[in-house]
Amino acid sequence: MVAPALRLREVAKSFPAADDRQRQCLVLDAISISLDVGELVSLVGPSGCGKSTLLRLIAGLDVPDSGELMIGAEPITGPNAERGLVFQDPNLFPWLSVRRNIEVGLLARGQLREKRGEVEEFMRLVGLETFADAYPHHLSGGMAQRVALARALINHPKILLLDEPLGALDAFTRMRMQDEVLRLWQSRRTTMLLVTHDIDEAIYMSDRIIIMTQRPGTIDQIIQVPLDRPRDRSSSDFLRLRGQILELLHFAGNETSLEGRTPIR
Ligand SMILES: Nc1ncnc2c1ncn2[C@@H]1O[C@H](COP(=O)(O)OP(=O)(O)O)[C@@H](O)[C@H]1O
Ligand SMILES: [Mg+2]
Repeated sequence: MVAPALRLREVAKSFPAADDRQRQCLVLDAISISLDVGELVSLVGPSGCGKSTLLRLIAGLDVPDSGELMIGAEPITGPNAERGLVFQDPNLFPWLSVRRNIEVGLLARGQLREKRGEVEEFMRLVGLETFADAYPHHLSGGMAQRVALARALINHPKILLLDEPLGALDAFTRMRMQDEVLRLWQSRRTTMLLVTHDIDEAIYMSDRIIIMTQRPGTIDQIIQVPLDRPRDRSSSDFLRLRGQILELLHFAGNETSLEGRTPIR
């Protein structure tokens, strides 16, 4: 049996409370999830429920209080280029060209010489080949986010962690970039965990959607998205699923309907 790409078991994390540093405030509790190799899973939940914290734990940028985090058969012990991270802010170096921004991690690890050919390949992959010598201030938001994606993908990550990567883009660019990320996912089969507050984005993109509760964030439900790709955002199946998720998140505008709800799987 193939090991899952990512497996979390009973992960909990607390931070010192903002108003009293002596007191610990539980942010994540009993998080157990598993992502198959090549799966694209979205993480949705109220602001402050610990989504970014969870991604930071998986990235190895922080340690849990308890629980187990595994990539394949290996426990996560710290940051590693095999886990790529892309944030809402592309965080490009403004004084470096697009090409140099993509190369910078390889350069730091002494791998640039052997991988220079791949830099061209990844710039082509994200449609940036004619922008290789442009600087970040010349790029649109969508273009800058393509650079951030190329920079993460060039390390051939086993998993790509995306923290609201399209959150700062306008609606049209956002929809185009959703297709772009899906194209990258389909061509590379990289396992992806995508944090988004956009329900349509989660349904449009993912194999499964993990819905979290309010803080302390726990897993409320995991919803399978049984729609074929490419998905039609206005199809009745899409809209039905959207209604069910909004109801779970208490945004359906009909609180009483929550009473008799049937769990969806
Ligand atoms: N380094 C930290 N120190 C103290 N509190 C933190 C730290 N990081 C996050 N938190 C708190 O943890 C909670 C969850 O934050 P976060 O993971 O950013 O939520 P989300 O991404 O779901 O909006 C928030 O209440 C936040 O203030
Ligand atoms: Mg966040």
